[in-house]
Amino acid sequence: MAERIFNFSPGPGTLPVAVLDRISKDVREFSNTGMGLIEMSHRSKEFMAVTDTAESLLRELMEIPDNYKVLFLQGGASSQFFMVPMNLLGKGKRATYLNTGTWSNKAIKEAQLFGEVDVPFSSQPATFDRVPTPDEYTVHPDAEYLYFTSNNTIYGTQYPQMPESDKMLVCDMSSDILSRKIDVSRFGLIFAGAQKNLGPSGVTIVIIREDLLERTEDSVPTMLRYKTHADKGSMFNTPPCFSIYAVGEVLKWLKEQGGVPAMEKLSREKADMIYRVLDSSDYYRGHAETASRSLMNITFNLPTPELEAAFIAQATDQGLNGLKGHRSIGGCRASIYNAFPKEGVVKLVEFMQQFQKDNPA
Ligand SMILES: Cc1ncc(COP(=O)(O)O)c(C=O)c1O
Repeated sequence: MAERIFNFSPGPGTLPVAVLDRISKDVREFSNTGMGLIEMSHRSKEFMAVTDTAESLLRELMEIPDNYKVLFLQGGASSQFFMVPMNLLGKGKRATYLNTGTWSNKAIKEAQLFGEVDVPFSSQPATFDRVPTPDEYTVHPDAEYLYFTSNNTIYGTQYPQMPESDKMLVCDMSSDILSRKIDVSRFGLIFAGAQKNLGPSGVTIVIIREDLLERTEDSVPTMLRYKTHADKGSMFNTPPCFSIYAVGEVLKWLKEQGGVPAMEKLSREKADMIYRVLDSSDYYRGHAETASRSLMNITFNLPTPELEAAFIAQATDQGLNGLKGHRSIGGCRASIYNAFPKEGVVKLVEFMQQFQKDNPA
């Protein structure tokens, strides 16, 4: 087997080796059943137990109150861009959206198909280099909810604190879920694609306050109603069995590491190491404004595109993969989700310092 590299991919992202080892065994033969996990009926008692474990671990780790449902859905986080307004808005209803990047932008476009949308803040003119402070926007008095993206994967910005509003919050938490403590009771709905902090791609987690399940208009198709999935414990149709199982294994690992407080501490330590390099040189320039910096995705530029290309190529040769920035802003991006090991960050920092010495601007 090839030597394991440090994988800075923005998603699907790196997973703990212990989890990968466990998964490989279970795919072949699961829990003395004589069959592999991905061959098993989703209605078997063994698989029902897998789903229950994943759900109860998520509830425990995020301290999800009892009046919230946890759903395991398909269609990616992108499908939530329309499912949210399709279920929570409707003719004459409105919502407030904060535009802090590509993913919020896409969510706004979809919401406009279903209701009135106010966008009191957008950092688009400054290439999404920051998130707003609470005094920079007003939530419309008639808004059903305030929508935001807690971590902007592409631009490397993150809300240091969740927005303040007396309206319920709806959040795309795809790229920082479980990396810091949050008060779920302030949210009407949280969603996250699994492929960054939760496991492999293929399943999207939705955490929804129960009373909202009743808001959907009759015209909404069955599969696109949250209530359909909530009523059937995410088993209305065949769920993404493998991904749900793998999320459960990542959550077991996360609990063993010390849960969300441990992840929060580790994320800060890892991110600080890289930001210190950015702050101590004019060679590396961070994209995000300091107060909006993400602890999950660190975006930066070198003095020229040629140096950036050389940086990425040499890093790859040294086993530091996935550092190319998103095509919409270019440059470099180090994605360091929960499962990304600290040793990889140490190695990146050493590489950055050496590269600067060897390649003056
Ligand atoms: C914050 C955020 N939201 C949504 C998405 C889209 O997720 P999916 O590919 O699961 O639709 C991504 C993908 O990177 C993301 O980073």
